[in-house]
Amino acid sequence: MSIPQRTALVTGGNRGLGAAIARFLHDAGHRVIITHTPGNSTIDQWQHAQAAQGYAFAAYGVDVSDYESAQELARRMYVDGYRIDILVNNAGITRDATLRTMDKSGWDAVLRTNLDSMFNVTKPFLDPMLERGWGRIINVSSINGSKGQFGQTNYSAAKAGVHGFTKALAQEVARKGVTVNTVSPGYLATEMVMAVREDVRQKIVDAIPVGRLGQPAEIAALVTFIASEAAAFMTGSNVAMNGGQHMS
Ligand code: CAA
Repeated sequence: MSIPQRTALVTGGNRGLGAAIARFLHDAGHRVIITHTPGNSTIDQWQHAQAAQGYAFAAYGVDVSDYESAQELARRMYVDGYRIDILVNNAGITRDATLRTMDKSGWDAVLRTNLDSMFNVTKPFLDPMLERGWGRIINVSSINGSKGQFGQTNYSAAKAGVHGFTKALAQEVARKGVTVNTVSPGYLATEMVMAVREDVRQKIVDAIPVGRLGQPAEIAALVTFIASEAAAFMTGSNVAMNGGQHMS
């Protein structure tokens, strides 16, 4: 049976977990488009480096925390002829601080980028998926949305919200060929995790039963399965992959 080529959009697909997901979806035969933050001056260089390794990625700048910016992205992509079948809401940030020291801007930035983005980016791509009767929406949450994390009231709240969004939307579109799922990665060897203070990070790694950080490719393989034809019966799920650090 031949596998149809789909078009996938991965937000924040130029680094960390997003880049691994983009590459895996490409390896699975899909056409892949990534988004990056607007004004990223190194994106051309990044695209060339990827192309040299056989990965042809179209790239668009968008501020996922901004509704208008996401609408504009969808318009530009439509004009350029892209129809999105697989949406991976991956872009996210951290602004770690205990609640006592967190300021309003650190709260707002994380909620807007990590949670408002679910609405902003999903909204313009949903109707076309429903019209075509096929779609995969995969929302990237985190272990810390399930277990909470010292220093991450903002991030844990947003990432817990991601799965609430997933479950509600999954019900709304289940009859229309569109699945909506959450993946909840644990601590991965990415820049985001490497930015955690070394002593704090070491304590976290010590608490992971498999004894190491995860690889972005391990999560990307999971996302690629959820995006496949074979995963049509899976919707509203939250799939954890965290080295045994949190079992629920
Ligand atoms: N539980 C209980 N107490 C803790 C604790 C914990 N998990 N962590 C720290 N404390 C205690 C410390 O022992 C310390 O106590 P004393 O004052 O009695 O010594 C006190 O709280 C202050 O701790 P810190 O020195 O860590 O405080 P800080 O203000 O210097 O740093 C912080 C605060 C920046 C939030 C830091 O604790 C931190 O980086 N924590 C880790 C946050 C984290 O895991 N981020 C994940 C980023 S990656 C990501 O988010 C991806 C993903 O999805 C997994």
